[in-house]
Amino acid sequence: MDLPIANYQARRQSLQSNLPEGFVAILRAGELCTRNSDCDFEFRPNSHFFYLTGYAEPGAYVLINKTQSILFNLPKDPEKEQWDGFRHGVEGAIENFAFDQAFALDDMDEQIIGLLDGSQSVWFDFSDDVLQQQIVNWQQSLAKKVRQGAQAPAQFNQLAGLLGEMRLIKDAEEVALMEKAAQISVKAHQQAMQTVTPGMKEYELEAELNYCFMKSGSRTPAYNNIVATGSNACTLHYIENNAEIKDGDLILIDAGCELGFYASDITRTFPANGKFSEPQAALYNLVLKAQKEAIDTVVVGAKYTDFHDVAVRVLSQGLIELGLLEGELESVIEDKSYRDFYMHNTGHWIGMDVHDVGAYKIDAESRPLKPGMVVTVEPGLYVSKDNMKVDEKWRGIGIRIEDDVLVSDEGPVILTHGLARGVDEIEALMAKG
Ligand code: GLY
Ligand code: MN
Ligand code: MN
Repeated sequence: MDLPIANYQARRQSLQSNLPEGFVAILRAGELCTRNSDCDFEFRPNSHFFYLTGYAEPGAYVLINKTQSILFNLPKDPEKEQWDGFRHGVEGAIENFAFDQAFALDDMDEQIIGLLDGSQSVWFDFSDDVLQQQIVNWQQSLAKKVRQGAQAPAQFNQLAGLLGEMRLIKDAEEVALMEKAAQISVKAHQQAMQTVTPGMKEYELEAELNYCFMKSGSRTPAYNNIVATGSNACTLHYIENNAEIKDGDLILIDAGCELGFYASDITRTFPANGKFSEPQAALYNLVLKAQKEAIDTVVVGAKYTDFHDVAVRVLSQGLIELGLLEGELESVIEDKSYRDFYMHNTGHWIGMDVHDVGAYKIDAESRPLKPGMVVTVEPGLYVSKDNMKVDEKWRGIGIRIEDDVLVSDEGPVILTHGLARGVDEIEALMAKG
């Protein structure tokens, strides 16, 4: 399900033409992370690294300069592979991944020090502390040899900004992959809505999601599944998923699969017994109105913050009308009193990372939306069960509705299309379950 190797090669070439003479860019896949004893967590390569290489083995590094791309990886080793699985090895890296050269990791220090000699600037992701230390060490090794004619690079540059901008605009193949991921997640949410019955544990519904992801070609969720019944939904990043689902609860599921290293991110909120109560439906319809109007604002040229502002306005107006907030609309927005019920932003970039890279502001201003950007649109309302300022009927209700939306010249395109959103639609789908 990965993209063709030529795509990764083209990205490296784009980097080569965008960086100045004498640059050296270095990235690493990351290491296996121990879970306990000699058991590891499932490995997932760093997204910047994979974006430029298509290479998913742990421990690997890539160096890109003006004329070549060089991979450093684990060499073939039949004995190790017997235990830990297949390795592409040094020759495989060149043959199957179109690198100009490849070396075993054991040779990396010597090779990189040689390649840094005479270069002007080193580009890497400043958030990678381990790599940063290694680069300083390589640079220092060279600096010690200046009297023998070595020339150590003197500039360090942040590579993450440039890669963030590249990754922010998705091409047609990336969009197609993201839509596939989104549609698997749509199926998983439908399955969860049709399976739920009061008395189940939250993790039983989570099992439906994971089963559907994996049976549909996705190896893993893009982030920890949130399955939150009742007031658990008011904890924004609730992942315990071990409470019993009660009759009368709303259930909030925020879950999306990863496919070909691209994420999807969907939230739906639905009644455990298949029927929204009156207060649940009132708040739900308000969130839905906010989401629909916000999605309509995801258009080329709009500022990134516009769709959030629209959602805040709709939610604030509705909270006043329903009696959860007092005062005039403008002052509720101005003094941010809506934040008692809506405390997060209305979305984020999504791509290889669920909270994807790319600047949100340019020169301190919210940036304009462009074709190929993908955002989530995810307004919500969360009424704490301990909020004594509101009528009892609202307490403990948590609702979020989230879809993934492509910015395009033809207007907003919902990649997560086809999943019930309206009260009637959800109730009808659940009745068929
Ligand atoms: N699932 C994480 C988020 O919606 O931002
Ligand atoms: Mn999200
Ligand atoms: Mn989400």
